[in-house]
Amino acid sequence: MGRTGTHVIVVGNEKGGSGKSTTAFHLAVYLMYQGFRVASIDVDSRQQTLTQYVRNRRNWAKAHDLKLPHATHFHLPLSKSDSIRENQRLEFDLFRQAVIEVEGDADFLIVDTPGFDTHLTRLAHSLADTLVTPLNDSIIDLDVMAHVDPVTGDPREMSHYARLVQRARTERLSIDGRTIDWVIVRNRISMLPSRSTRLVQSAIEKIAVRLGCRVADGIAERVIFRSLFPTGMTVFDPLSEEMLGGLPSMSHLSARQEYRSLVEALRLPVSERARARMEASRALARSAAEPAAFEHMAQGAE
Ligand SMILES: Nc1ncnc2c1ncn2[C@@H]1O[C@H](COP(=O)(O)OP(=O)(O)O)[C@@H](O)[C@H]1O
Ligand SMILES: [Mg+2]
Repeated sequence: MGRTGTHVIVVGNEKGGSGKSTTAFHLAVYLMYQGFRVASIDVDSRQQTLTQYVRNRRNWAKAHDLKLPHATHFHLPLSKSDSIRENQRLEFDLFRQAVIEVEGDADFLIVDTPGFDTHLTRLAHSLADTLVTPLNDSIIDLDVMAHVDPVTGDPREMSHYARLVQRARTERLSIDGRTIDWVIVRNRISMLPSRSTRLVQSAIEKIAVRLGCRVADGIAERVIFRSLFPTGMTVFDPLSEEMLGGLPSMSHLSARQEYRSLVEALRLPVSERARARMEASRALARSAAEPAAFEHMAQGAE
């Protein structure tokens, strides 16, 4: 499954409820508003939160006649066969097919993964150019990275998930000599700093050094994320009163700003890609008599 043109962002963390699907969806929408062609794959065949988010967005846009960007989205089927092996094979084939299909067509592919270890989760991790791990801002949630001394915050041993990522990195290096840029994103940060949040912060920094990843200051705990999900909206969409059931608040604007800073912290190859796209559209303008190329460019932006 050698890849070339598409930058793959995998959102992973072996814990449910850390904000993976919310982050995956926000990244996808943000990048589309930046003019990029975006595809997404939901590897979480049990919860399918990202898929539901995508559906809610399409339904809401249709019902309210809104012109919104939509990503090209793929999801895995719910288990069809009684045989686990057979299901794994089906899922694997579908995933492979989806990756091949978007390759070269999308600027970014965003992969949302489940909060448990599967064959496919591992495969997805080894394809990542950027791995984003949202982490809830609590000492208990750090456990997914490393077992931490509860008093000093010093990391003791690597967790199962950290080992999974290390293996994915090794594999990736042997396949195409590339490294995975792993970024921890603090999520649901408490607005009221306490001794515990300071301990979490210093523990995360120590863990990052140990595991060779970066830390991005992420998103605060905000109730708006719950109201966005049913409408399939993100903090980047034009927010209407109807959608919110009230006026947009400062909280929206702050959340938008936080997500923007988060994308900056990811250091995605956006400028290279933007340049490549401009060159492509100039080339297209020169040879305007090729309608197939136009279709190609329009895909994913809807
Ligand atoms: N920054 C945040 N503030 C408040 N709630 C959040 C935030 N990020 C995510 N949530 C909520 O947490 C829950 C789990 O998020 P989700 O993205 O589904 O996590 P995961 O995919 O890791 O299981 C959802 O109800 C979501 O709305
Ligand atoms: Mg999820």
